[in-house]
Amino acid sequence: MRAKLIVGNWKMNGSRAANAALLDGIAAGLDGAKASIAVCVPAPYLQQCEDALKGGPIAWGAQDVSAYSGGAYTGEVCAKMLSDFACRYVIVGHSERRAYHGESSELVAKKAQAALGEGLTPIVCVGETLEQREAGRTVDVVGAQLGAVLELLPAEAVGKIVVAYEPVWAIGTGRTATPEMAQEVHAQLRAQLRARAGSAADGVAILYGGSMKPENAHELLAQPDIDGGLIGGAALKAQDFLAIIHAT
Ligand code: PGA
Repeated sequence: MRAKLIVGNWKMNGSRAANAALLDGIAAGLDGAKASIAVCVPAPYLQQCEDALKGGPIAWGAQDVSAYSGGAYTGEVCAKMLSDFACRYVIVGHSERRAYHGESSELVAKKAQAALGEGLTPIVCVGETLEQREAGRTVDVVGAQLGAVLELLPAEAVGKIVVAYEPVWAIGTGRTATPEMAQEVHAQLRAQLRARAGSAADGVAILYGGSMKPENAHELLAQPDIDGGLIGGAALKAQDFLAIIHAT
């Protein structure tokens, strides 16, 4: 059985003081937790995470990475810099970056490749909009998003990624995919991974994201192909994040 992975996506939230309180609050409630846990934080707070979390059970990571390895790319942060702060994870292709920063699936694939090149685990996000779902295009859309990554990576690297299925219409809206809806897409993604990487696909964690909260986490996480969660809003409150961790 795959171990569950619960990742907090802080998005553009936090301050040194708020982060310290949040991390202390999470650490205080971890007794008996079975899941692997990580927080993906704004880049300026990576040092704070490294200082606070080093040697403990919570891993940390970033929310984006450059496709380039360094040099004259003002404002970018490369994978080597993330590994300099001992990041384990980096989110790539979050729908907010696809929508507000025009990131294509091809660029997302290059970012995943750059992350893997530095020993980081990319959390590759895919998901359809409400319009695409209503048009019956969910499978095509998420299939193409994941497909771009699978095309660029060598088959042996596929087992090293994490995938996050995040229906765009469920992110930050309070609307959640039903466990059955999510499981259907997760099974599809698993089949696509298997077609590319064979049995290594069985080890890939496929997370669900989109208004996961204490009230719905247990049912979602009980689905056979839902291996954890990528949590936005509920990751900013220690009690809620802990409740999701303990729901695994
Ligand atoms: P949400 O965000 O939990 O606030 O819906 C999830 C995400 O965007 O990763």
